[in-house]
Amino acid sequence: MKKRYFLGTIAVAAATLAAGTALAQDNNKFKIGLIIPMTGQQASTGRQIEAAARLYMAQNGDTVAGKKIELIVKDDVATPDVTKRLAQELVVNEKINVMAGFGVTPAALAAAPIATQSKTPLVVMAAATSSITEASPYVVRTSFTLPQASVAMADWAPKNGIKKVVTLVSDYGPGIDAERYFKDRLLFNGGQVVESLRVPLRSPDFAPFLQKVRDIKPDALFVFVPSGAGAAVMKQFLERGMDKAGIKLIGTGDLTDDDQLNDMGDGALGVVTSHHYSAFHPSPMNKKFVEAFEKANKGMRPNFMAVGGYDGMRVIYEALRATKGQGGGEALLAAMKGQIFESPRGPMFIDAQTRDVVHNMYLRKVERKNGQLYNVEFDVIKDMKDPGKSK
Ligand code: DHB
Repeated sequence: MKKRYFLGTIAVAAATLAAGTALAQDNNKFKIGLIIPMTGQQASTGRQIEAAARLYMAQNGDTVAGKKIELIVKDDVATPDVTKRLAQELVVNEKINVMAGFGVTPAALAAAPIATQSKTPLVVMAAATSSITEASPYVVRTSFTLPQASVAMADWAPKNGIKKVVTLVSDYGPGIDAERYFKDRLLFNGGQVVESLRVPLRSPDFAPFLQKVRDIKPDALFVFVPSGAGAAVMKQFLERGMDKAGIKLIGTGDLTDDDQLNDMGDGALGVVTSHHYSAFHPSPMNKKFVEAFEKANKGMRPNFMAVGGYDGMRVIYEALRATKGQGGGEALLAAMKGQIFESPRGPMFIDAQTRDVVHNMYLRKVERKNGQLYNVEFDVIKDMKDPGKSK
């Protein structure tokens, strides 16, 4: 009896000690919950973001303002129910300081209420529907918005002989944004969208839609599909001889995603897209970024998802530094707002009012450079805010 009591006391004391040590350790830690799709249809997004986040940490160290940064990576399979559960678990059990990632819009929207309730900054590194930043005052975005890219394309197209356009978008948030902002701006610029087609997000079959486009025979087909789906659109577009039928292929840069572009073949040559990032962006900073990324991840070229992840880590690191490691969610959020810095994409700014990204939109054409296919920038709209915020 006595012995058992004694052992029990020791056990309790040991547990208390362990908890105390864990707490002390936790106080010295800064935890980032990175919720990304690592499996399923959007897996390349997660792969790119994780690789970029780890590269940022390797280059900048894992200790900031006396805190050891811990990256906790969770696979949400781009499924909002899973995202929500993971965000809750990370906040309650892991006591994360910041949540980040979010490969698709529904995932970001599912986590937003948890960010609000727990006062945890939520850094969107991938998802790109305009309204996400309005879903919670704790959202900060380092990716881009579809209205930015779509308006840039609708300004370029009519000046280059493209007046009559059919749009083809994935039927969810970013696709709806792309369709709407492209259409309104094209009309304003004297062109016209003659048909708007929406394809399902999950396992889309583009064939029947492309057949319809062929029958309509517009000057161009404008496409938005999420990262990872572009190669399938390109393949079917070419297989149907749409280019030979005189229909140009244009879109947001998600279509000619650097993660897939080099495998698309010569049929992709000449395709013009608008986006915030190309692995071929000719700044010294980007050259260093691409080189380091490719060295650390054999056979991989960084895409716009990688850059959203890399810049997101920068925003988190600098917020931690600015708050001297002492800040809670509110203070960290305040230190994220208004950050201005050079990104591999070019100059970048987190608008303090909207918490959304302000950056250049580039027009790019697919060309062969050094034996590989790249999006080569030939024009730029500087410092573009999200056009979605003015409505
Ligand atoms: C979204 C996802 C993508 O893969 C992309 O390229 C753009 C937007 C999204 O779900 O918001």
